[in-house]
Amino acid sequence: MTEQSGQSPALDNLSTESRVFPPDPAFTGAANVREGAYAEAEADREAFWAEQARRLTWDAEWSQVLDWSGAPFAKWFVGGKLNVAVNCVDRHVEAGNGDRVAIHWVGEPGDTRDITYAQLKVEVSKTANALASLGLVAGDRVAIQMPMVPEAIFSMLACARLGLVHSVVFGGFSAAALRSRIDDAEARVLITTDGQYRRGAPAPMKDGTDEATAHTPSIEKVVVVRRTGSDVQWTEGRDVWWHDLVDGQPEEHTPESFDAEHPLFILYTSGTTGKPKGIQHTSGGYLTQAAYTHHAVFDLKPETDVYWCTADIGWITGHTYIVYGPLANGATQVVYEGTPNTPHEGRHWEIIQQHRVSIYYTAPTLIRTFMKWGADIPEKYDLSSLRVLGSVGEPINPEAWVWYREHIGRGTAPIVDTWWQTETGAIMISPLPGVTKTKPGSAQRALPGISAKVVDDNGVEVAHGGGGYLVLDKPWPSMLRGIWGDPERFRDTYWSRYAEQGFYFAGDGAKYDADGDIWLLGRVDDVMNVSGHRISTTEVESALVSHPTVAEAAVVGAADETTGQGIVAFVILRGTAKADDSTVKVLRDHVAAEIGPIAKPRQVLVVNELPKTRSGKIMRRLLRDVAENREVGDTTTLADSTVMDLISSGLKDSA
Ligand code: WT7
Repeated sequence: MTEQSGQSPALDNLSTESRVFPPDPAFTGAANVREGAYAEAEADREAFWAEQARRLTWDAEWSQVLDWSGAPFAKWFVGGKLNVAVNCVDRHVEAGNGDRVAIHWVGEPGDTRDITYAQLKVEVSKTANALASLGLVAGDRVAIQMPMVPEAIFSMLACARLGLVHSVVFGGFSAAALRSRIDDAEARVLITTDGQYRRGAPAPMKDGTDEATAHTPSIEKVVVVRRTGSDVQWTEGRDVWWHDLVDGQPEEHTPESFDAEHPLFILYTSGTTGKPKGIQHTSGGYLTQAAYTHHAVFDLKPETDVYWCTADIGWITGHTYIVYGPLANGATQVVYEGTPNTPHEGRHWEIIQQHRVSIYYTAPTLIRTFMKWGADIPEKYDLSSLRVLGSVGEPINPEAWVWYREHIGRGTAPIVDTWWQTETGAIMISPLPGVTKTKPGSAQRALPGISAKVVDDNGVEVAHGGGGYLVLDKPWPSMLRGIWGDPERFRDTYWSRYAEQGFYFAGDGAKYDADGDIWLLGRVDDVMNVSGHRISTTEVESALVSHPTVAEAAVVGAADETTGQGIVAFVILRGTAKADDSTVKVLRDHVAAEIGPIAKPRQVLVVNELPKTRSGKIMRRLLRDVAENREVGDTTTLADSTVMDLISSGLKDSA
């Protein structure tokens, strides 16, 4: 653990928030999950999860619900066998729902595709046959870097069908980031597209993946979906067009059953060091919790609801709440390829109106952006179909919460503020829309079957009204099973802080209010949250010092009105480098090229010194004070206490 961050000042107003919104009795009357679920789950947690697992179709029954004897490595539904893709696709067709639309796909340029469950079964089967024809066998890793096109979902499900482990890499990540993820997982195949639509224009995709795969010895084949029709470089023998490989494949594929603990995917996320962690998820427990939470938190009625999660499949939200949860539940959903303001700022509302979307799940950063664009924009559309609104990715400030309810939810739709992580696999803390009296800014309560606590440094639960660290004190079905290739880091990162108590340390600060509801307060480690994306300060610092002009760098997340946090970098330049605008631009672009545009610093401030403790640790807390224009806090532990004066006066001079 490095130095503790302060809580985000944007959240100060949480302490004064006291509004409460009870559920509408009509909603409660028809809700999927009632108050009694909490007590039922509490009485026998394992029996509760076994009951939820029966939402799925199993090929062999488990002999044990939970084996925690190898803690912190859990096994759920021991001995159970299933095929995840069959659960997400085939069984809905077999149940007579083949004609139900699974995906209303909306392309950014306006092209659309409605895919029924029967059609999805054909597409996934053909893709599975295609991947098998490349010689891939269960357990092999497949990397996927694609925009939000239907083939991305077919690919993930085809992997699941064959027992291949997918590693989806967000489309906005750089070639270097893709390369390190491919290398770490030793992926044999990469699936990508020629290009992608971004803000109304085609942008390259394969150029970046070519740069990455020029140096990835494990990659044998690159499968390329034609999306934009742009010109691409072609490596004969390695590259293969999707349409050449998949189109002629048989439409039938006989699925195999896999063990409940068979790995389903790896998803990389930032930690407190420069090296991303490959979070491992498995099949039975993951799909159980994905399906249950999607049913419970969003109150999904698969026959009548139209669901839309605005995440990208490159993140865990896209995995669990676009692909696995909704499809396991037989939902009809919208999948949108593009940005929210292409071609105009009402695009989301237009899509909701057109498809009669009833459940909408998005991120606070986007809600704040909509607020900035103005309430008159959603007002032009018919949003009366909306009945549940979700939020995820970062704490939602009460102002945005209330705006969301008023202007998008017409003052009636319940808001579910869902707390979870890449590591937890599925939602852990959230209101239930028919049960909870919601409070703007609070995720409130662990779901039935889940246990979370706010504890102090010693692992003792704090009293109501008190603050501390969020821990998960009982194993849960969709918990990560480890970090790919690094069991030591898994123990160290999550389980060493409260080793004695056996708690999972989430890395978030939290508090209880007087009613015992949980309020999340942001990360307490060196992980930033920018627009709901997790970025490590160390990763950005490494990118900066990899540039020849930079001698030293320190990065902090500073409160930002729209993005939650913004990246502010303090750099010391080498000898002759000039501290001017062009240097700053070069460095911002360099970080974008090294990691991806999401990691581009909001500000790069050139300084002569950095505040360090006597042991040489950078005191980010003090830099955050500068970045947030606050009076600089306690400097007594600095090796040189005049450093902060130097930094502050230097910045004033250059301003
Ligand atoms: C971190 C996990 C879960 C999918 C998206 C992010 C923050 C997430 C909330 C929320 C307050 C939240 C936490 C968490 N976070 N949801 N509702 N309220 N904070 O997944 O990239 O793994 O990031 O996001 O800090 O630790 P992730």
